[in-house]
Amino acid sequence: MEQMEGLSVTKCTRCPALVDSRSRIVDGTGPEDADLLFVGEGPGANEDSQGEPFVGRSGSVLDDALLAVGLERSAVRITNCVRCRPPENRDPTGEELEACRGYLTQEIELVDPEVIVTLGKVPSQHLLGRSVAVTNEAGSVEEIRLDDTPRRVLICVHPAATLYDRSQEETFEGALETAADLAGVDGAGGGQTRLDGF
Ligand code: URA
Repeated sequence: MEQMEGLSVTKCTRCPALVDSRSRIVDGTGPEDADLLFVGEGPGANEDSQGEPFVGRSGSVLDDALLAVGLERSAVRITNCVRCRPPENRDPTGEELEACRGYLTQEIELVDPEVIVTLGKVPSQHLLGRSVAVTNEAGSVEEIRLDDTPRRVLICVHPAATLYDRSQEETFEGALETAADLAGVDGAGGGQTRLDGF
C-alpha cells in the first residue's frame, strides 16, 4: 500500500477532518510477530499527543488486565481501526474506517497473529462486518477471511467500559484469558511468554 512502509503509515491525507484534528499518525505498537493483536477504535487525546495507542486511562485498564492474565503489554501488539484522532473524540465515520481499512489489513497480514482481539463495538463491527452487541458477545470467537486467509477474532468490551461499569471487569479479564489461551501464549512455543507468578 503506497503510504505504508512496513507497519508504519508515513503520510496519509485521505480523511480531511482527521488531518485537521490530528497532531500525528498513531501507528500500532508491539512485536511485529505478536501472537495477540488488540484492535481499538482510534486514538484519543493522550494517544494523539504521545503517538502510541492506549496510553490514557483505557490503556492503564488494558495493561492491568493483561498483567492479571499473565501478559505484559510489551508482548502483544496494539493498534486501532483509524490512526488519526477524530475531532472531539467522536466515533470515526464509515468513510474514515474504510479509508484506513487497508492499513489495518496490511498490519494483520504482516503480524499474522493467532488471535485478533477487538476492543469495543467499533472494531468488532468493522472486522466482523455485522452488528455486534459487545456486552452479550464478549468472549466469543468468530472466524473471518481477510484476503483469503482465515483469521480468528475474539470480541471484547472496550477497556473504558470497565470504568463506567465495574461488573464489566470480569467480562474483560475473562475475554483476555480466553485470548491468551487461544493464542497459546503460555510459554509453550508461542512468540511470547506469560509472566510467572501472576
Ligand atoms: N481507545 C481506543 O479505542 N484506542 C486508543 O488508542 C485509545 C482509546
